[in-house]
Amino acid sequence: MEIKRSTKLHKELFKKWQKEGRMEKITCREIRNGKHYVDTKVLSFSFFYGKIKEPAGKFNCFNINKRNKSCECGYAVNPKYHGKGIGTKMIKYCVSYVFKNYDLNKIYCQTGSFNKPSVKILNNFGFHRDGVLREHHELDGKFWDDYIFSILRSEWEQWYKKN
Ligand SMILES: CC(C)(COP(=O)(O)OP(=O)(O)OC[C@H]1O[C@@H](n2cnc3c(N)ncnc32)[C@H](O)[C@@H]1OP(=O)(O)O)[C@@H](O)C(=O)NCCC(=O)NCCS
Repeated sequence: MEIKRSTKLHKELFKKWQKEGRMEKITCREIRNGKHYVDTKVLSFSFFYGKIKEPAGKFNCFNINKRNKSCECGYAVNPKYHGKGIGTKMIKYCVSYVFKNYDLNKIYCQTGSFNKPSVKILNNFGFHRDGVLREHHELDGKFWDDYIFSILRSEWEQWYKKN
C-alpha cells in the first residue's frame, strides 16, 4: 500500500467517478451544475430588547441549504447583559422568526460542551442533541467536546404550543 498527494490528473479522474454516481447520494448539500454547492450567504439579525438602545444580541443564520431546508445558527448576547435572560428571549424570538419567514425544516447549531448557558437554553427549548464532536474544541490547551443541537419545524411548533 502507498499514499501519494493527488495530482491534477487524479482529480480529473475523481470528477469522472462523481459523474457516474448520483451526486445526491454522495452529498447532502445542494447540487448546482453537477457540483456540490455551499451557500456563503449569512443572514445576520440584530436583536433589540426593552429600553436598550443598542443591539442586545445577534443571531446569525448560515450554511443555508435549500435542498434539505436547513440552516446553522450562531448567537451572542451583548456582554454587558449576560445572565439576565436576554439570550433565552432572543433565541425564542429568533427561532420563531426564522421558521415563520424562511422555508426551512431544521435549525441546528454547534456549541461547546463547556458553554453552560448556551447548552441550557437549547435544552430548555427542546432542541435535540444530535451528536457529540469529541475533543473538537480547544480552549486553553484543553480539548473539549462540542455538541450539535437541532430543532425541526414540527418540534418547534409543538414546543411552542405547549409553552
Ligand atoms: C450563550 C449566551 C447567548 C446566553 O445568553 P444569556 O442572556 O447570558 O443567557 P440567559 O441569561 O438567558 O441564561 C440562559 C440559561 O443559562 C443559565 N446560565 C446563565 N449563565 C450561566 C452560567 N454561567 N452557568 C450556568 N448556567 C448559566 C441561566 O440560569 C438560564 O437557565 P434557566 O433559564 O434554566 O434558569 C451568552 O452567554 C453569550 O452571548 N455567550 C457568548 C457567545 C456564545 O457563547 N454563543 C453561543 C455559541 S453557539
